[in-house]
Amino acid sequence: MRTNDAQMLVLCALADGPLHGYAVNSAVERMTGARLGRGSLSGALARLEAKRLVEYLDERPGQRQRPLRLTPEGRELLALEVRTLARTADAVFEAVVPDRIGYQDRLAATHIARSYKRSALEALAIRPGDTVADLGCGPGTDLAALAGAATPAGTVLGLDHSPEMAARARERAAELPATHVHLADLHALPYGTATVDRAHTDRVLQHVADPARALAEAHRVLRPGGRLVMAEPDWESLSVDHPDPAVSRAFTRHLADRVVRNGAIGRQLPRLATAAGFTVPSVLPATTVLREVRAADRILGFRRNAERAVAAGYFTPETAEDFLAHLAREPFFAAVTLYLVTAEVPGNGA
Ligand SMILES: C[S@@+](CC[C@H](N)C(=O)[O-])C[C@H]1O[C@@H](n2cnc3c(N)ncnc32)[C@H](O)[C@@H]1O
Repeated sequence: MRTNDAQMLVLCALADGPLHGYAVNSAVERMTGARLGRGSLSGALARLEAKRLVEYLDERPGQRQRPLRLTPEGRELLALEVRTLARTADAVFEAVVPDRIGYQDRLAATHIARSYKRSALEALAIRPGDTVADLGCGPGTDLAALAGAATPAGTVLGLDHSPEMAARARERAAELPATHVHLADLHALPYGTATVDRAHTDRVLQHVADPARALAEAHRVLRPGGRLVMAEPDWESLSVDHPDPAVSRAFTRHLADRVVRNGAIGRQLPRLATAAGFTVPSVLPATTVLREVRAADRILGFRRNAERAVAAGYFTPETAEDFLAHLAREPFFAAVTLYLVTAEVPGNGA
């Protein structure tokens, strides 16, 4: 970059036409949420003028508040900077949807996932000999850990409605003792009433068409005293740092409203589980803080979701590009909370 940040902001502010100095700072404030200090604005203006990137329209010396405009060189430099930022954003953000199995495996390998999955396993309190159901098991991510706790005396039942996921989970189950995978739907579980001791969901109820029905099914198959541990996110808690909070709110609203079917399921589970007949002895938050944009992008798919936000009217194309260009620059911050909800079927049978 041939300009520092204050100079770049002034160039951007002048992109739409000439402005007086005070109006330049108002435009900077609209773009970034903060005004430049008096010294840094006048310093930036003096240096840009010396480099012949901006010029005063009225050359009469001594006249204050003269309007400024970009010179052709200034406009060329601005275009170059914008192209560089766009290329940076292209290099940072994934352009294609990752394959679904690879995505789940990649996520499960992260420090964050390993940590909350360990907490979910502890909350399940599986005893050797238990029958444990992993509802929405995906590619079988958690089957080995569940089998490690319940088998060989017990049984692990993986279930997923995606043929692709169930097939991969079966391959993994084949290497584990007493572990079986069923291609089935959470809304109609293929298990008998009161036959399961422990059940588990991990980021599954956020996707189902009818969470209340899925919870009623889990309640039916669990024995009295049986336990369901759900790890489900609340996408409305997603906060991505951007100088204009309205922009980051729009990204979050789009994700929670349009991308994920039940975007606020995390906070709803205690109420829905109680309505299904469970008691809810504990709700634990697991907040993920992401400070590295590429790691965040693997979870949040910034480019594809920004494009979808444009199509759905949550972003203008310019806002989307500005959002991505900003995120591509460090420092980056995003956080989202997932809740570990433990629900129990009243009784002492399990
Ligand atoms: C985000 S993945 C999580 C997979 C796994 N629990 C893990 O932690 O890696 C959600 C899984 O739920 C499955 N799923 C979604 N709705 C379902 C339903 N109604 N019945 C069965 N499985 C479902 C999807 O096919 C997908 O494999």
